[in-house]
Amino acid sequence: MGKFEKAWALKKTPTGVLLKALEEVRQRAARPTDICDHLEALFLLCLDRELQLIVELGVGDGESSFVFERAAKLWDAVLVSVDIEDRSNVSTYGKRRFMHGDDVAFGDTFPSWCSRQGISPEIDLLFIDTSHLYEHTVQEIRAWFPHLGPSARVIFHDTNMKETFLRRDGSIGTGWDNARGVVRAVEEYLGQSFPEEEDFTRIIPDWIVRHRASCNGLTVLDRL
Ligand SMILES: C[S@@+](CC[C@H](N)C(=O)[O-])C[C@H]1O[C@@H](n2cnc3c(N)ncnc32)[C@H](O)[C@@H]1O
Repeated sequence: MGKFEKAWALKKTPTGVLLKALEEVRQRAARPTDICDHLEALFLLCLDRELQLIVELGVGDGESSFVFERAAKLWDAVLVSVDIEDRSNVSTYGKRRFMHGDDVAFGDTFPSWCSRQGISPEIDLLFIDTSHLYEHTVQEIRAWFPHLGPSARVIFHDTNMKETFLRRDGSIGTGWDNARGVVRAVEEYLGQSFPEEEDFTRIIPDWIVRHRASCNGLTVLDRL
């Protein structure tokens, strides 16, 4: 499908189909996890712009994959999921490509991998949820941001990590203190400092930054 037909395809998608997918995401989000507060937002962030290529770094138990495979199906998009552990069985979506290995090494060879797969290497949505470590996040930004399309969206999870975290329903989860590893790497890249313990929206040169503090933090960067 070409770009125009794809945009038209989602417009033609019956509301009932969108609602069913949203309801599935809500049911998944009812389980208290380290990311449950953000699953609905992740799904909605996939609907307001055309997606042809979604890249998910960090599959884990598949919470984010559950959302992205549904969104990718609506757009007939390719979902590239990467994990250093074998997470090939987490999704059955036909246009999912699972890459088993280090995401930074893969990022460095992404364009040639895409050309072998017959995929355009321009990323529409990049989701980063891997080691949560500062140096690794710096390397992920270095390796993956050059492949972002002109109106790409980047989503980082774990931008507000502590030994415990709060969900919106008031429940408390157990995490670990990553010494602001992810948010510090984002701050340095954007040349800004962020109050990650509160919700905020900022417009800065080239980007709109939106942040939700709960459930380990979710930060969304939209290219202006
Ligand atoms: C927190 S889990 C991901 C959770 C997942 N996004 C979800 O919503 O359920 C982090 C994942 O990142 C993977 N990971 C850690 N370091 C990595 C690396 N260098 N390259 C690729 N994956 C990595 C781990 O194997 C783990 O599965």
